[in-house]
Amino acid sequence: MSDKLKHIAFIMDGNGRWAAKRGLPRSAGHKKGAEVLQEIVKAAADMEIPCLTFYAFSTENWHRDKAEVDYLMNLLRQYLSSELKEVKERGARIRFIGEREMLASDIVEQMNKIEKETASNEKFTLCIALSYGSRAEIVHAAKNVAADVASGKMRLSDINEQSFASNLYTSGIPDPDLVIRTSGEQRISNYLLWQIAYSEFYFTKTLWPDFSPKELKEIMDDFNTRERRYGKL
Ligand code: FPP
Repeated sequence: MSDKLKHIAFIMDGNGRWAAKRGLPRSAGHKKGAEVLQEIVKAAADMEIPCLTFYAFSTENWHRDKAEVDYLMNLLRQYLSSELKEVKERGARIRFIGEREMLASDIVEQMNKIEKETASNEKFTLCIALSYGSRAEIVHAAKNVAADVASGKMRLSDINEQSFASNLYTSGIPDPDLVIRTSGEQRISNYLLWQIAYSEFYFTKTLWPDFSPKELKEIMDDFNTRERRYGKL
C-alpha cells in the first residue's frame, strides 16, 4: 500500500486531437478541456486530495498560432474571472507557477488577486502552471540563490536541496506523488522536473476532454497498489 496521496499533477493533453476527431476546430477541444478541468478539480476535492497541479499553458505553447494562443488566453481570462469562484468558495488556496512576465498585465493582476484572496485557505491547494517551463524555473531558482550568496544573505554552505527548492515557484507545495498524462503521449514535456524525482507516473490513452472522475478514481486505486521505495530496499 502506498503512502497517503498528497499531490497529483496533471498534463492535460489531447484537446486538439479530440476536436479533430469530431471535425471541430482545436478551440472546441480547449473549451471542452476547460470544462473537464473544472469537473476534475471538484471531483478531486470531494476525494479529499490535498493538492492538485494542472499544466494549463507551457512556455513552448507560446509558439502555437497566434489565434490559438489568443483563444487560450481568453479562456484563461474567463476561467480566472468566473469559474475559479466556486473553487475559492470550496476553500481552495490557489497558486500559479510560471513566467508571469510573458502574460498580459490584466491576467497577471487577476492571478495576483486570486492568490492573495485565497492565501489563507487550507482545505486544498489548486496550482495552475501557466507559461510554465521547468528548466526556466530551475534557472530562476539558481539565479536567486546565486544573488543571495553574492549579497552575503546566504553562505555557499547553506545551499542544499531544501534551501534550493524554497526558491522554486512551487515553494511550500509538496512534491507530486503521482503524475497523470492523458492522450497516450509518454513524455514529461519540461514539467516539474525537480519536483517529480520520486513521483509515480500514469499514462492514459484517454484524451483530456474525455477524462472523467471515474477514471481518476481508477488511477488512484492503481496508485494505491504501488509500492514506493524512494530508492531504498
Ligand atoms: C494540450 O492539448 C492542452 C493544452 C496545450 C492546453 C491545456 C488547456 C486546457 C485543458 C484548457 C484549460 C486552459 C485554461 C487556460 C483555463 P493539445 O492542444 O496539445 O492537444 P493535441 O496534442 O491533441 O494537439
